[in-house]
Amino acid sequence: MCGIIGYTPAETNQGVIDVILDGLSGLEYRGYDSAGVAIADSSVSVFKREGELSELESAVPRDSLDGDAGIGHTRWSTHGPPTDANAHPHTDCHGTVAVAHNGIIENYRALRAELEAAGHEFDSATDTEVIPHLIEIALEQGADAETAFRRAIGQLEGSYAVVAVFSGLEGVYAARHQSPLVVGVGEDGYHIASDVPAFLEHTDRVIYLQDGQFATICPSGVEVTDERGSIVETSVETIAWEPEDAGKSGYGHYMQKEINEQPRAIRDCIRGRLSDLDGTVSIDELGGVGRPSAVHFVACGTSYHASLYAARLFRDRGVPAMAFHASEYDADAVPLDNEALVVGVTQSGETADTLSALRGANRAGAETLSVTNVVGSSASREADHVMYIRAGPEISVAATKTFASQQVALAMLSDALTDASSRGSVEALRALPDQIQSILDDSRARESADTYADADAYFFIGRGYGAPVALEGALKMKEITYKHAEGFPAGELKHGPLALVNERTPVVAVVSGESKSEKMLGNVKEVEARGAPVIAVTDSAGEVQSDVDDILRVPQTKPRFMPILANVQLQLLSYWTAHRLGRSIDKPRNLAKSVTVE
Ligand code: M6R
Repeated sequence: MCGIIGYTPAETNQGVIDVILDGLSGLEYRGYDSAGVAIADSSVSVFKREGELSELESAVPRDSLDGDAGIGHTRWSTHGPPTDANAHPHTDCHGTVAVAHNGIIENYRALRAELEAAGHEFDSATDTEVIPHLIEIALEQGADAETAFRRAIGQLEGSYAVVAVFSGLEGVYAARHQSPLVVGVGEDGYHIASDVPAFLEHTDRVIYLQDGQFATICPSGVEVTDERGSIVETSVETIAWEPEDAGKSGYGHYMQKEINEQPRAIRDCIRGRLSDLDGTVSIDELGGVGRPSAVHFVACGTSYHASLYAARLFRDRGVPAMAFHASEYDADAVPLDNEALVVGVTQSGETADTLSALRGANRAGAETLSVTNVVGSSASREADHVMYIRAGPEISVAATKTFASQQVALAMLSDALTDASSRGSVEALRALPDQIQSILDDSRARESADTYADADAYFFIGRGYGAPVALEGALKMKEITYKHAEGFPAGELKHGPLALVNERTPVVAVVSGESKSEKMLGNVKEVEARGAPVIAVTDSAGEVQSDVDDILRVPQTKPRFMPILANVQLQLLSYWTAHRLGRSIDKPRNLAKSVTVE
C-alpha cells in the first residue's frame, strides 16, 4: 500500500523533480511513513527520507536537480520499518536502475537468497529491492532496458505496480499486476501513477492499465504491451474530475472539505438514476441484473458499515441479505444459488480483502457486483458488474463523503433490484443534498466536541437503521482522535458495555427515525442513570430534549434515509474533537487510505 509516480517531459530537463514531488503530495493518502525520488540523467540520483513528504522535500536540491525522467514513491511500510534505507526507490549494485513498487512480492525471500548467493548486496529489508538486482543481472546478460525490466518482472509472484528509470535513458518503464497504475497523457509530457490525483493538475486524459500489462512512457509517447510484449491498443479516456477536486479549496483539512462536499457528491450519485414521474430508480450499469434470491455484501471498515445498512434495506424488501467483513468471507461456506448476488463495496476499489472476497465469490460461481468510487479500479474489473458511487476523489484517510455516497448508491440499488421505489422515495432522495447542507450550515457539533474533548471514551448507540451509523460514528471518532470509541446496537449496551459507562464517557445516541422508539429512549435512560452525558442526534424536539445533555439536529426524512443525515453530525463531532485535540486529521497515525495488503 503505497503511491508510485513516474514522469517524462516532452522536452528534456523540464521540471521533472517538481512534477514528481508535487505529484507525490496527491498520493500521500496512500501512505506517508517515508518517501523518495529518483531522477535519471546520465546517472540516477536518488533521495529518500523517513517521515512525511515534507522531510523529503527539504532534503531534495530542487534547483540543481533535473533530468530526462523521474519516479517517486510514498510508502506505507509492509517489509521493514519506515527508515531512509527502506524508503523507495531502490537501486541495483551499480546505481544504474532505480525502482519504486506498490504491492507485495511473495517470493522475495527465495529471490533475495539467490541474489545474495550470487554476490548482490542489499541495502534494505524490503521485498522490492530484489527487482533492481534482477534487472541488473539481465542487463549484464546483454538485455536492453525494456527486456531486462520485463525479464525481472516475469520472475515476481504476488502483487505489484512497478516503475523504473535507468541512467542515460529518457523513459519510465512500468508494469502492473493486482496493484493500480494509470497513465496520464499530458501536453507537456507523460505521467504514470497509482492514482489520478498525482497528475490531475497536468492532464485529465488517462489510460487505465490492466493486470499483466507493461507501459513505457518517453518524450515521444506511451507504449502499452502485454506479457508477451505484443502492443496493446488502448483508449484514452477523459475523466470528469477538476484539478481543484484534488485540492483543499480553502478548508483546513481534506476531511473538512470532503464532509462539506457531501451535498454535491449525493447530487452526482443520484444524477440520471431517478425518475420523478413514475418514482422509479434505474441504474444503467446494472444491465440485466434482476431481483436477487439473496445478497452477500463483502467490505471493510466504513464500507462494511455501509454494507450493514444495505443488507437491512434488502431484508426490508424481502430479500435475504447479510454483510460480511471481507477478510472473514468464505464463499464456499455459505453456498449461494445462481440467482444470488455478491456485492463488494469498496471506495478505493483496491482493498485487498474485498478483492480477495470477490474473487472467492467468482470462483464459487456467484454473480458479482462492485460498488466503488474509482473508475478502472481493480474492483471494477474483478466483478461481473460495477456501479459507481460518483463521490469524486477522497483524499483524507477518513472516509466521509464516500460513505454518504455509498449509502445513497446502495439505497438506490435496493430500490432498483426489488422494484420497490416510489415517488415519495425519489422525492426523499432528491431532498437529501439540501438537508445535508442545512446540517452543515447549522451544526452545533463543534460546541459539543469542545465540551467533551477530554472524555475518557465515547460510546455510540443506535437501533435499526441507526445501528450501522453508530458503528461508523465510533470508527471515525477513534480513527482521527485516537480516543477509545465503540459503537453498539443500543440494545447490546446492557449485555456488557454498560460496565464501562460513567460520567467521563459521553454516549452519542442516534435518536431519529425508527431509532426514536420507546426502547431507544429507555437505553438513553440506562446510560444517564450511570452518570454519562448524552448527545442525541435527533430529528425530534419534544420527548428527547428533556432527557439529554446536548442535541445535534437533523431534518426529518424517511426512516431508511435517516442514517445518511445523522452521520453528517457524527462526522462533524469527530472532526471537531480531533481538531480540538490537535490531531493529524487527514493522515491519522498507522493508517493509510488504500489497504492493498490482506
Ligand atoms: O477503499 P475501501 O472502501 O475498500 O476501504 C475500506 C476501509 O479501509 C476504509 O473504509 C476505512 O475503514 C476508512 N478509511 C475509515 O475511515
